[in-house]
Amino acid sequence: MYIVLEGIDGAGKSTQITALKQWLEDSGFEVETFVEPTDSEIGILIRKMLQNPSATDENIQKTLGLLFAADRLLLMDKIDSEEYCNKVIISDRSFYSSLAYQNPQNWIADINKFAKKPDIVLLLDLDVDIAIERCSGEDEFEKKSFLVDVKNKYLDLAKNDKDIFKIINANNGPKKVQSDIRKAVAPFLGICVSGID
Ligand code: TYD
Repeated sequence: MYIVLEGIDGAGKSTQITALKQWLEDSGFEVETFVEPTDSEIGILIRKMLQNPSATDENIQKTLGLLFAADRLLLMDKIDSEEYCNKVIISDRSFYSSLAYQNPQNWIADINKFAKKPDIVLLLDLDVDIAIERCSGEDEFEKKSFLVDVKNKYLDLAKNDKDIFKIINANNGPKKVQSDIRKAVAPFLGICVSGID
């Protein structure tokens, strides 16, 4: 079982992953969490490049896309290994992040063909204005138009992959978001949801 959380910056993925992991462990599952970009050398390089917000040039975007894909390739090897075959994998981001954040989208899709398709993608859908409030200190105008674009791309991806995407309203408080996440995940794992509303 490969569960992925996606969403724009500030959507609250990491808080929700911690709570989801705890609930699944309490329900008797063995759970492993991953984050993209990973902490590999490629992941470290990616984070360094992301600190330069002026990197909007198409070839830099493509280079970033290649690095995200390379980092992901190593992660896919790990996820497919025997060590994790009986575990529930929860991942903070996946190739869907590359499709939403990097350009051009067709090219990004081609270089990510190797990537394992998640069983379920929980898209934490947050208003961009709330996201901006959460990520203070950045150029708000530029950031807003970028995040609107990413949010719309996520919603298009969800429309095209209705079977695996579950859209979760992330404007709600963290408890309600967690409750909605559990309701979405429970049928996939054959478990009941109780005591969280
Ligand atoms: P991070 O600080 O971990 O942000 P978050 O907590 O929101 O995930 O940095 C990850 C950043 O990398 C985030 O802005 C999204 C971006 N990203 C891409 O642009 N493409 C990708 O394929 C992935 C996995 C992440």
